[in-house]
Amino acid sequence: MVFNMFKGYERVSSLDLVVCDALSIMVFEDIAPEVMYEDLDRGLNGLLSKLRASGDLTGKEGEVLKLYLPEKPFKRLIIVGGGKTSELTKDRLRVFGGESVVRAKEMNLASLCIALPKVNMSVEDVLYLVAEGAGLANYEWSRKKEVKLVKEIKFVGKEEILKSCEVLDTVAKVVEAVNLGRDLANAPADEINPQTFEEAVFKVFNGLPVKIKVLHKEDLEKLGMNGILSVGRGSNIPPRLIIVEYEGAGPDKPWYAVVGKGVCFDAGGLNLKDSSGMLEMKYDKSGAAYAVALAYAVAKLKLKVNLVVLTPLAENLPSGNAYKPLDIIRMYNGLTVEVRNTDAEGRLILADALSYAEKNYRLASIIDLATLTGAVVVALGSHAAGLFTNNEDLKNSLIKASEETSERVWPLPLWREYYEDIKSDFADIKNIGVGRAAGAIIGAAFLSKFVEKTPWAHLDIAGIAWVQEEGPKKPYLSKGATGFGVRLLLNFLKTASNTA
Ligand code: BES
Ligand code: MN
Ligand code: ZN
Repeated sequence: MVFNMFKGYERVSSLDLVVCDALSIMVFEDIAPEVMYEDLDRGLNGLLSKLRASGDLTGKEGEVLKLYLPEKPFKRLIIVGGGKTSELTKDRLRVFGGESVVRAKEMNLASLCIALPKVNMSVEDVLYLVAEGAGLANYEWSRKKEVKLVKEIKFVGKEEILKSCEVLDTVAKVVEAVNLGRDLANAPADEINPQTFEEAVFKVFNGLPVKIKVLHKEDLEKLGMNGILSVGRGSNIPPRLIIVEYEGAGPDKPWYAVVGKGVCFDAGGLNLKDSSGMLEMKYDKSGAAYAVALAYAVAKLKLKVNLVVLTPLAENLPSGNAYKPLDIIRMYNGLTVEVRNTDAEGRLILADALSYAEKNYRLASIIDLATLTGAVVVALGSHAAGLFTNNEDLKNSLIKASEETSERVWPLPLWREYYEDIKSDFADIKNIGVGRAAGAIIGAAFLSKFVEKTPWAHLDIAGIAWVQEEGPKKPYLSKGATGFGVRLLLNFLKTASNTA
């Protein structure tokens, strides 16, 4: 995947001289567009002021105008409403970048020039956010003959933007990483299974300073990682645990661990899902995909942090060999688990990876990213990931990081009482609760049993790992996998590495 959107700058003395298939501008309710874009308005013989006077251009959030200007070098003008400047948020700038690209794609344009609005934020921040939105929007997962993407995206602004070239370099890497995560998550099970996921990981990190270890079936057997082994038993393709280490802070510093759920396809196992429930389950490896993408971003950006990413990979399929309800699994950490439902498989593979990380690394914290439960979708819809943790500081850091990147997380409790529900008559715990009550919390409570002393957070991303039909539509998130959590955790790690 080549990211070739940003091709540098040309000098223009006035906006109406931009040479591109389209120019895109952001307008606001409380600043007249002809004042904000004086040179452009003049070059267009007062078009902006006339549009405003006619009431067709109000600057309200969500408003988009596409105008055709055959006599101009840019031929098309895209105008995106940004609401009130007093209410401007970071995400509105991402949305502006994203909306500009979406409209350019609609019109099948090869090149787009986005004007950076002059607002109450540093030029660097504006450029970063608009470019991030544009880069994320200029992504499409498709196996069609032809994919329409904007080949060239440029930014115009005051001279100062010339000083912020590194900003674009950083955004390009972040966007490339997120889109790589989306590629991995979007790929259907006939392309990506535990074997080909492994191959993809080696390819992704080729030439980057990371160590990759893979624990294959025999290794998992030796170590007693029976959670991963049991879930993977129904498939012809054996499960495995991939471990990616990036030691950017040196050997004296503790590790940040990120564990991603990698169920390459979740048919439910012998507790088979129904057709509609199964239809989206290629996305059940999103956590693993996004964790790999995170490691890629961290390595590309050379963050001074020690990061270890662990992705347990398996296919959850029914077969004569599949694990069965009422099986009792002895997990890597010694706990026994009574399988009450083979469709509650994510927690079993994550559990082994969590306790493996805690046993084998000196950890600062451990965060897992998982499409764990349908119940979290009932609770929060597609607007936030469920956040569960045993540590207040970690919780606050994650919430802060999430506000920066507009990837919402929302805390849910892990009170003692919930643990009653996973008591088993025959094993230490069972893998589901009682009825449908508090399903997302039960999943998290189960996981917490596999972390003894490390600050731990679990992000249940089932509602937000891919764009659901009825979910929110952000222009910078095209159909399919969202890459949720990559930017969030990157931000979290950046802060952690700066304060360590
Ligand atoms: N991968 C699913 C969770 C899921 C459901 C993700 C819908 C995204 C959308 C998970 O493995 C699962 O099947 N969970 C069960 C748990 C139940 C058996 C306790 C669920 O949510 O129904
Ligand atoms: Mn399942
Ligand atoms: Zn699953």
